[in-house]
Amino acid sequence: MLDSAPNRPELPPEIARRRTFAIISHPDAGKTTLTEKFLLYGGAIQMAGQVRAKGEARRTRSDFMKMEQDRGISVSASAMSFDFDGFRFNLVDTPGHSDFSEDTYRTLTAVDAAVMVIDGAKGVESQTQKLFEVCRLRDLPILTFCNKMDRESRDTFEIIDEIQENLAIDVTPASWPIGVGRDFIGCYDLLRDRLELMDRADRNKVAESIEINGLDDPALADHVPADLLEKFLEEVEMAKELLPQLDPQAVLEGHMTPIWFGSAINSFGVQELMHGISQYGPEPQPQSAEPRQMAPEEKKVAGFVFKVQANMDPKHRDRVAFVRMASGHFKRGMKLTHVRTKKPMAVSNPVLFLASDRELAEEAWAGDIIGIPNHGQLRIGDTLTEGEALRVTGIPSFAPELLQGVRAGDPMKSKHLEKALMQFAEEGAAKVFKPSIGSGFIVGVVGALQFEVLASRIEMEYGLPVRFEASQFTSARWVHGPKDAVEKFANANKQHISHDHDGDIVYLTRLQWDIDRVGRDYPDVTLSATKEMM
Ligand code: G4P
Repeated sequence: MLDSAPNRPELPPEIARRRTFAIISHPDAGKTTLTEKFLLYGGAIQMAGQVRAKGEARRTRSDFMKMEQDRGISVSASAMSFDFDGFRFNLVDTPGHSDFSEDTYRTLTAVDAAVMVIDGAKGVESQTQKLFEVCRLRDLPILTFCNKMDRESRDTFEIIDEIQENLAIDVTPASWPIGVGRDFIGCYDLLRDRLELMDRADRNKVAESIEINGLDDPALADHVPADLLEKFLEEVEMAKELLPQLDPQAVLEGHMTPIWFGSAINSFGVQELMHGISQYGPEPQPQSAEPRQMAPEEKKVAGFVFKVQANMDPKHRDRVAFVRMASGHFKRGMKLTHVRTKKPMAVSNPVLFLASDRELAEEAWAGDIIGIPNHGQLRIGDTLTEGEALRVTGIPSFAPELLQGVRAGDPMKSKHLEKALMQFAEEGAAKVFKPSIGSGFIVGVVGALQFEVLASRIEMEYGLPVRFEASQFTSARWVHGPKDAVEKFANANKQHISHDHDGDIVYLTRLQWDIDRVGRDYPDVTLSATKEMM
């Protein structure tokens, strides 16, 4: 367990003002729209619409791929930094599609909190639930935004009840909606006693915010029609009796989520949410590592790679390792130690993802995400320090659920294919296994769509058409155990043995029966469905 926030020493102000978070949601709940409004209020973009902009505008603004443009799926994740109210927000984008759960899981290891976006008419949907469970594994604090309140939505109590029941977390209202659907006029900010009125005519306009002297202030009646006011006051009265009060400590521990109601597309409720993130969201937290955790207040710089993305700029064929700074104050040009290889690494051209563009990072503090362009040395799970042999933990790699063989359209280009496959394996976009008997590769993924994404990327980035085809294997397990036992096992089961891109031994099979048999016949050998990346 990591230390919880209040027992932590005071952080240097530059670190204390950082809020590093991700958005979790079901597709279509409004993540993209909310992100866009965050960037708008964070001054990172001048005009709403840029994140969603199609075609050229979109390509230059961010590093989304063609695949994503065609299908509207977030294939590539990125990080964006912006300032709001004196705070530095680092928003790490989670890939939204359920096929990309492993990538998403890793992304969530790099953040200190999550914003959960739900659709007011649909409530907690399957993907939200799944992602929430991942956040819970790490006790991540969660702030909730109930979106699309401008449309017909569920009863406020029903929404809150559903979250409490389905996700087993206390919910406390930070704002309360007034009116429903077409009659929705805005929210009462319960934390700051303000009435926020939505302007339906201008989607980008900041809501009118009226200071109110508590709920019995007669000024409320000047702005809220009598019937809506009566219902609203009744509901808030009931909420006070039935729902827990905001307990900032419980929020930081992940036991309670404050909920804001709003409409991202109408820019409504977004600033209140941002204010909430700055006030109730956690400061950069310690990261679990071996042999000791890394704490943000430490003077020495440390960070870890949670994502690798290749070919972000097809013209340069670069790879960018996304590094979450875990401690200290990093300055451009610093020499860090790449712990896995024990080699020094001068970080001379790190990039900060300032939403509008990549920008050279002159400095970064614990909590920030920087990109380090490299030629493949940096892998997911790698730790960078000022010399100490620390190794970040808790970044697992999961066994793929689907396996297929892969063949280059042009047999003369199999070397190119190997290169492409290794690159995607390093990115964590797929598992690649080289069987010890025969030629060719077996590719493993979590969801079927990933084969299509891979085929499209190999063609786009390497000019190489490929075909995926059925494989005789359906399961992959990493083999662990004493060296002798593993060797004996591997020699006796050659037709099942392969190596992953790190050279680790992997057992391939199509039968659960085989896996059970290994357990019986080779008691010293363990077959595992996860491996810690290192
Ligand atoms: P996602 O990234 O979570 O998948 O959701 P996204 O923001 O793309 O939003 C999904 C759809 O919901 C979009 O409509 C978007 O305009 C709409 N939306 C987002 N926020 C609100 C809101 O507060 N109120 C209402 N009524 N709609 C909202 P679309 O038709 O799919 O796309 P578009 O043609 O509007 O761009």
